[in-house]
Amino acid sequence: MMDNKYLVEVQNLQQYFPVAGGKLFEKKVVKAVDNVSFGIKRGETLGLVGESGCGKTTTGRTLLRLYEPTSGKIFFDGQDITKVNMLPYRQKMQIVFQDPYASLDPRMTVGDIIGEAIDIHHLAASKKDRQDQIISVLSTVGLNSEHANRYPHEFSGGQRQRVGIARALAVNPQFIVCDEPVSALDVSIQAQVVNMFEKLQEEMGLTYLFIAHDLSIVKHISNRIGVMYLGKMVELADSYELTFHSVHPYTKSLISAIPIADPETSRKSKRIVLEGDVPSPVNPPSGCRFRTRCPYADELCAAQEPEWKEVSTGHYAACHHLDKVN
Ligand SMILES: Nc1ncnc2c1ncn2[C@@H]1O[C@H](COP(=O)(O)OP(=O)(O)OP(=O)(O)O)[C@@H](O)[C@H]1O
Ligand SMILES: [Mg+2]
Repeated sequence: MMDNKYLVEVQNLQQYFPVAGGKLFEKKVVKAVDNVSFGIKRGETLGLVGESGCGKTTTGRTLLRLYEPTSGKIFFDGQDITKVNMLPYRQKMQIVFQDPYASLDPRMTVGDIIGEAIDIHHLAASKKDRQDQIISVLSTVGLNSEHANRYPHEFSGGQRQRVGIARALAVNPQFIVCDEPVSALDVSIQAQVVNMFEKLQEEMGLTYLFIAHDLSIVKHISNRIGVMYLGKMVELADSYELTFHSVHPYTKSLISAIPIADPETSRKSKRIVLEGDVPSPVNPPSGCRFRTRCPYADELCAAQEPEWKEVSTGHYAACHHLDKVN
């Protein structure tokens, strides 16, 4: 049953992409997201972290049904939206993309980009109302009416991302997938944009899924954080709990990777440095997918997939050897 404390929830979400195999006519699947379940509470930010290719973007896009899920269920505000016509939900559920260069049509003015979103959902009563809404949302993201007549290439990276945020906000959503929205920006302006997301959330009561490679970005903005590895969620906890009392060896390795100059990061726990790369999601390791890079792995890890367990209130992890690791 759908738990109504969540605005957005996914149950056993699976996204397999068919791809061509190495041999002629051979078909394979990329198990990009494999049986992932979590909920996002109203008004909260759930951070989602993990190395490149672990399935973060696919999770975000599938829960918006920009990709149709292979299996599993998606709920929004208590409604099962796995199979419904998404148009009314597109207004409530928006996305801000990682790359503000690729995600804005270079032939359209900023006003048209934002206006298009308003038009799709018939949100303007008149031409003047439409124009007023465009100017209002531009000012919400720190731009002004003059910017409406310009093209994306006339803006800096940070300004362009503000346009992407304005486009999402223009339809008055309740939920936004923020897919690495600051990764492509200069480090000097990343904090500004993250702060803007926080301010918008406070003012508008927004709920976010905030995706990042890097724990150091999401730990400030997130209430809770989920960690993905090779299509699986391996740990999920309150942000502070995850930063200071992580239990999964993969999470510990991510925390080890945060530069020591960061004074807030706990150094009491053992440092885990991973060898090698993430294996292919076409042919993931048996049992625990992390085992090929885990210093604690044994036969059990190869034979059996670890169960997703609540290790303390609201803190979940999937690992056979939590006792050994901690
Ligand atoms: N449309 C697609 N068709 C086939 N495979 C895909 C598709 N989209 C993603 N993949 C594969 O699915 C896996 C997960 O990709 P995804 O983009 O979700 O990872 P990510 O965690 O967002 O990575 P990054 O941090 O680099 O953005 C990868 O192996 C990727 O190559
Ligand atoms: Mg991604």
